[in-house]
Amino acid sequence: MASKLEALEQWVNQAAALTRPARIHWCDGSDAEYQALVQQMLADGTLIELNQQTHPGCYLHRSHPTDVARVEHLTLVCHPNREDAGPNNHWMDPAEAHAKIDALFDGCMEGRTMYVIPYCMGPIDSPLARCGVEITDSPYVVANMRIMTRMGAAAQARIEREGTFVKGLHSIGELDPERRWIMHFPAEFSIKSYGSGYGGNALLGKKCHALRIASNQARTEGWLAEHMLIVGIENPRGETHYVAAAFPSACGKTNLSMLIPPEGYRRDGWKVWTIGDDICWMHPGADGRLYAINPEAGFFGVAPGTSDATNHNAMRSISHDTIFTNVAVTADNQPWWEGLPGAPVTDWQGRPYDPANGPAAHPNSRFTVSAKQCPTWSETAEAAQGVPISAIVFGGRRPSLLPLVMEARDWSHGVLMGAAMGSETTAAATGAVGVLRRDSMAMKPFCGYHYGDYFAHWLSFDRPGAKLPKVFHVNWFRKGADGKFLWPGFGDNLRVLEWMIDRAEGRASGAETPIGILPDEGELKLDGLRLERARLEELLEVDNASWQAELSAIGDYLASFAPRLPERLRREQQRVVQA
Ligand code: GDP
Ligand code: PGA
Ligand code: MN
Ligand code: MN
Repeated sequence: MASKLEALEQWVNQAAALTRPARIHWCDGSDAEYQALVQQMLADGTLIELNQQTHPGCYLHRSHPTDVARVEHLTLVCHPNREDAGPNNHWMDPAEAHAKIDALFDGCMEGRTMYVIPYCMGPIDSPLARCGVEITDSPYVVANMRIMTRMGAAAQARIEREGTFVKGLHSIGELDPERRWIMHFPAEFSIKSYGSGYGGNALLGKKCHALRIASNQARTEGWLAEHMLIVGIENPRGETHYVAAAFPSACGKTNLSMLIPPEGYRRDGWKVWTIGDDICWMHPGADGRLYAINPEAGFFGVAPGTSDATNHNAMRSISHDTIFTNVAVTADNQPWWEGLPGAPVTDWQGRPYDPANGPAAHPNSRFTVSAKQCPTWSETAEAAQGVPISAIVFGGRRPSLLPLVMEARDWSHGVLMGAAMGSETTAAATGAVGVLRRDSMAMKPFCGYHYGDYFAHWLSFDRPGAKLPKVFHVNWFRKGADGKFLWPGFGDNLRVLEWMIDRAEGRASGAETPIGILPDEGELKLDGLRLERARLEELLEVDNASWQAELSAIGDYLASFAPRLPERLRREQQRVVQA
């Protein structure tokens, strides 16, 4: 039996024998290493310096124009048994998958440097954290991994102590969409990714490890790996409640995690604390509550729409030491995207800006920034035991039907609300935008196993002694007849979070409806908000006929997971139909 360190070295040697790099660099995660990589990328054009007076330490990366988002059709979950991947995943036989991708990896790093990146997902001393090692030939990936994870010597020391780590092999290859695969081997604890440098495809600690591989591990070990932000809401009495919320990509997680309270709330002393903006690992604690950590150390945020008006905390975070990908630039070389004041002169592809070519910034352009740069970053994000969760929130982009907020009557109903989630597709994945699709728990692209088993796993947390959070569903995106959003959103979402916390604390009674509990008359605090009464009524309207159609569609969708659909979830759907 090889020693723990030898296991790591053996795997690195194997990868080197396959990809044949000119040299191997073990990343220590130091500042000097980061700066040297930046200089090298500035020299070869991978990074472009932005205005260092206004944006010190900020750089722009322009990706290959066909490599701008996650590629769900090329993302595979290779369980030995096809059924375990479920209808929610693309599957290939593991042996066939290895053969296919190893043929691409063969000699792909010739003349290039191979970087070995040990990383830890979660606080380095947390028992809830898990480690991995990514091998890549992309310095851009190394720089981003340094921001997004606890990367380097400390992670390597933990790996050498524990011996277990997720093995991730990555190459940008030729950046050819025809030679691109993102493959997961849950049984082997490994990931192979070829042909893309885009965040969700290439920063393997993020979606590949912390969601697809971790969801499998969480299932066997009795915890949850979720596509959720974590936010702390401190009321004027100084009590903080933590909320975890699952919205699909580009549906408001980053914004909600760092929201700025409306004027009146600020005056009264409300504060918001950011713990995480994309991924949440939740474990049942000894007291029966769920405790959450953010496995990440940075934000990989959507740039368009981010402004001082919508997300001032993000704007302050990204004013220095940030990597921008596929944004436009202004005449004085500042980063620019739709939603910001000022004007672009160069678009995301480096061409002179011409509105005939579409938006100046790519709709899925991103910023990568250390979470510590966020003014509302909370120390509790470093807590080894995590933070206790008071409410779980599901939501998506639903132009109609779904009310602003509703509460599940119990855990089973909450799991149904999550499973039934639907949302319009966004630019975060390649393909059509604005198409309504089911996206259970916002995990459609990320659940690394059969959704039927996943729903059963969620239901299993309801057991004697459990003190589970209340479950809610929100919709910030309902539109009126004029085609405009009915709800102002952003900071005003705190009004909805306050109602949830009031419900969790027994301070609001709510109003029962067939689909769940909605705020009772006057329970949503709307002081200082200019919202016509008719629009509020529309936001909270429950149309029975349309709901019957929706419930029947939900029934059909759930049936697609038979025979692994838990009977309890099917019965729950029946109960709501008859309510
Ligand atoms: P994430 O990908 O889930 O983290 O989503 P983001 O927070 O980055 O938001 C994605 C897009 O939705 C951005 O363009 C935001 O400006 C927009 N957005 C976020 N929150 C709201 C909201 O409450 N209301 C509206 N109308 N748009 C929002
Ligand atoms: P997002 O993260 O959820 O912030 O968009 C990236 C992604 O899901 O691709
Ligand atoms: Mn995401
Ligand atoms: Mn985000």
